[in-house]
Amino acid sequence: MSRIAIDSERCRHCNTCVEACPEAVFASGEKGVAPRVVQSDLCVACGHCVALCANAAIQHSDFPLDRVRSSAKDLLPSTEALLELFRARRSARVFESKPVPREHLETIIEAARLAPTAHNCQGTHYIVIQDRAILDKVIHRTARFLGICAKLLRNPVIRSLYGLVAPNDMKSAVNMIGSLESVANAAKQGIDKVLRGAPCLLIFHANPAVAYPDKSAQLAVQNAMLICESLGLMSFYTGYVVGACEHGTRIPALLGVPKQHRVYAGLAIGYSRFAFDRWADRKPAPIQWR
Ligand SMILES: Cc1cc2nc3c(=O)[nH]c(=O)nc-3n(C[C@H](O)[C@H](O)[C@H](O)COP(=O)(O)O)c2cc1C
Repeated sequence: MSRIAIDSERCRHCNTCVEACPEAVFASGEKGVAPRVVQSDLCVACGHCVALCANAAIQHSDFPLDRVRSSAKDLLPSTEALLELFRARRSARVFESKPVPREHLETIIEAARLAPTAHNCQGTHYIVIQDRAILDKVIHRTARFLGICAKLLRNPVIRSLYGLVAPNDMKSAVNMIGSLESVANAAKQGIDKVLRGAPCLLIFHANPAVAYPDKSAQLAVQNAMLICESLGLMSFYTGYVVGACEHGTRIPALLGVPKQHRVYAGLAIGYSRFAFDRWADRKPAPIQWR
């Protein structure tokens, strides 16, 4: 549990900590009196109180002074620059074999680590795989798994049973049969449609007992994909690998995922052989204004 105290000498009684705390850790004091710490057990260690306290009056065991830094607001990109980044990010599928430098991978994970997490649990863990032998096994096992899925989905009995249990999942799975077979058949000919020749796979895993581990991992992935662009790298979300990890393929063990963890996302990363100098637009967003 975090130890939190308010230095009444430094406190300016602005009550910012009371208002900004996402939980109910602080309570307002009488006029001219510092707020009180009433429920430190509720603290999620988000650091908002220490970041916002203008006079550094809050002592928080999770945030010694060296963990609270000034923001470099002048470095923030403009709205246009951000929109251009979102447009520029595309899923690459043809990679050079050139490895991704370790310092770039550290930057990518730094970006991922800064994403929001449910209840600020920061439960996402990362595994970086660049070992060619392991990547090849991942490709092989994933492709084999997809081939089995396609075969099962082509079986009318299994398909109707699946339709009874999970009708929506069944419809989307059936739509993918052709793609699954294409990946599986390509692998038999030595063609990699799983990682598409990417020299690096970044795995996002977590203990399922933390709050919303899947959602937190997806947000981390988005940060990682975007920062890749700024590093001259490209990526794509390895949905097939993640799917295979969920279904007894022993890929998690091969990757070194702890037994009690689950794989929630994966990113193939590398230098794209093609530069996207143009961007093809998406469908307009369906919006309701009320
Ligand atoms: C959950 C999810 C799973 C995905 N799985 C794969 C995959 O296994 N292989 C692949 O090549 N692309 C995969 N993608 C990438 C999408 O196909 C891609 O984002 C989409 O076609 C839009 O293209 P863009 O990312 O270039 O804008 C996945 C994307 C998401 C969000």
